[in-house]
Amino acid sequence: MALAAADQAAVRALWRKLNNNVGVYTTEALERTFLAFPSTKTYFAHLDLRPGSAQVKAHGQKVADALSLAVAHLDDLPRALAPLSDLHAHQLRVNPANFELLGHCLLVTLARHYPGDFSPALQASLDRFLRHVTSALASSYR
Ligand code: HEM
Repeated sequence: MALAAADQAAVRALWRKLNNNVGVYTTEALERTFLAFPSTKTYFAHLDLRPGSAQVKAHGQKVADALSLAVAHLDDLPRALAPLSDLHAHQLRVNPANFELLGHCLLVTLARHYPGDFSPALQASLDRFLRHVTSALASSYR
């Protein structure tokens, strides 16, 4: 089931506000994930994970681009994210429980940077969007 129209509108409006900074916040969310949930670091043992590292920044930008792709395809998230789901399930073999941890940290990161915008309604819309993303990413595991 696609995201409700009101949730779609709220997420699109937030993304317009983030503009070119999606990568900045996604990188911060990744760093927060590694610190708050250190077991997630095991998947990135081949990267330099120190705060401010260029490799984390580059990876944060890739994740940001994937999220922006999802925002551009809110009516059909599973299809837009299918190649990434295959990658995480079959090649990277990431335990899908980790997707929620990054989603949670992204929510917290955006709430910190946009406190004035972060009404309970926006929180709920963004949470539902991130659940759609994580469930689309988890679909190839079935
Ligand atoms: C919102 C959730 C996520 C999105 C949208 C996402 C997206 C991506 C993207 C776009 C790439 C790059 C693919 C490529 O280079 O072709 C990637 C790679 C990767 N992802 Fe995810 N990811 C998510 C969550 C996670 C989580 C939670 C983990 C592990 C805790 C993870 C582990 C990895 C690893 C290990 C790579 C390969 C990194 C490398 O070797 O450069 N991902 N992901």
